[in-house]
Amino acid sequence: MVKVNTCVFISGKGSNLKKLILNSNNYNFPIKIKLVVSNNKKAEGLKFARKWSIPYLIINNKQNLSEDKILIKIKYYKVNLILLAGYMKILSKNFIRSFGKSIINIHPSLLPKFKGLNTFEKALSQKEKKTGCTVHYVTEKLDSGRIILKKFFYIDNKDNIETLKKKTQRLEYNAFSEAIIKIIK
Ligand code: GAR
Repeated sequence: MVKVNTCVFISGKGSNLKKLILNSNNYNFPIKIKLVVSNNKKAEGLKFARKWSIPYLIINNKQNLSEDKILIKIKYYKVNLILLAGYMKILSKNFIRSFGKSIINIHPSLLPKFKGLNTFEKALSQKEKKTGCTVHYVTEKLDSGRIILKKFFYIDNKDNIETLKKKTQRLEYNAFSEAIIKIIK
């Protein structure tokens, strides 16, 4: 199968990245991860890039210079899809336009509810009945691009921030991969 050359952006633990790498190693999964980008040189997730010998690029916080570096690498690796897997920095309009192809993000809430940070705190304080994750296209407006899919679970009264995070992340791993299959096939 012809796989789509993909770049994954991370900032931290990288558990979504790990799942994406494992899935992409399957013959039938439609992406090949050519590059990992991190804006944090201490991101734990970089160990997965090292383990599977995937080239990675660490960028610093100077937005323009960093994004130019990414664009050069992305061109070199003929990347046609970018996945934001826990990337905690906002991409500039200029970057999104210059790349010009699909960028998708996984977000830990049922969008359009709770854009931005602290989604679990917000779900608890607003006494939501359910929460989950959303995979969506990235546009110039934060967490507002077209939704590809959502997955949810019911919140019970013993839940706290930690348990919501665990339950959400468990859903995220399949949600991200299902969304990729949905947009490529
Ligand atoms: C994920 O839960 C993802 O939804 C969230 O960061 C976590 C990264 O975990 N993303 C955002 O909050 C983006 N606004 P991971 O590094 O273990 O994949």
